[in-house]
This record gives sequence, C-alpha cells and structure tokens, in this order.
Amino acid sequence: MIMKTFLPFLTLGLILFGACSPENTSVKKESAKSKEVTSGELKLAKGKSIYEANCAGCHDSGVAGAPKPGDKAAWSERIAQGGMDMIVKKSIEGYDGKAGMMPAKGGNATLEDEEIKNAVTYMTRKL
Ligand code: HEC
Repeated sequence: MIMKTFLPFLTLGLILFGACSPENTSVKKESAKSKEVTSGELKLAKGKSIYEANCAGCHDSGVAGAPKPGDKAAWSERIAQGGMDMIVKKSIEGYDGKAGMMPAKGGNATLEDEEIKNAVTYMTRKL
C-alpha cells in the first residue's frame, strides 16, 4: 500500500532528475566554450590588423615565395618542421629561407612578440 503511492513520486523524481542534470552540465560547458571562442576571435582580429599593416605586402601575393594566408599545403609543411612556436620564433628573428628573405618582425621592430604571434595565428588559421 505504501509502495503503491510512493512509487509514482519516485519515478517522477527520477525522470526530473534525469532530465535536468545533463542539461545543466551542458549549459556550463557551453558558456565556458563561448569564452574560449571570444578570446580566440579577439586574437584573430588583432592578428588580422597587424598582418594587413605589416605582412600583407609580401604574404598576400606570395612575393619571393612568402607563404600566403590560408594556403593549407604550404603552412602544414612549415608547421610540420618545427611547430607553431618555431615559425613564430623565425618570424620574430627573421631568417633567410629557401624561397627568400623573411625580415625580422616583417621589418617593423616596434611590434611586440605577442603581436607577431597573433599575426602568425591569423595567417595559419583554417579557412
Ligand atoms: C619583405 C617581405 C615580407 C614581409 C613584409 C613579411 N614576410 Fe614573412 N616571409 C617572407 C618570405 C619571402 C618568407 C619565406 C621564406 C622562406 O621560407 O624561404 C616568409 C615566411 C614567413 C613565415 C614562415 C616561417 C617558417 O618557419 O616557415 C611566417 C610565419 C611569416 N613569414 C610571418 C610574417 C609576419 C607575421 C609578417 C608581418 C609581421 C611577415 N611575415 C612579413 C617575406 C615577408
């Protein structure tokens, strides 16, 4: 008799619990994810303006073999050689490559290392 009246409540409780809890966690995950996206997008936006002002002159048209932004094949080959850290370091210090000369910081010594990093992130973004 007691079980008969109690059971529907128990079942209802389980259904409610089951329906609510996964939803809550997915909402939390969602908001954490959108924060990441925002800071990533901000870096891309900053990188874009650095790129357009300092790097596009050579890299947009591929002057002297400069890899173009979004050229997946060219970038994956370069990244494979030493990773993102390596290509950022080479952009900061400059180097004489097989294809041509990459000037230190694209020739603008006033740029911060972080700005170069953002520009490289923008250039190597997936399109
Ligand atoms: C005067 C032309 C010129 C300018 C300006 C220039 N680059 Fe380059 N960059 C090159 C050339 C040429 C290469 C290819 C060199 C090679 O690998 O032979 C290159 C290569 C690179 C690479 C590939 C590095 C690697 O490890 O393979 C990155 C990253 C890069 N540039 C970033 C930048 C950034 C960021 C800027 C702006 C701040 C910039 N470049 C401005 C000419 C330029």
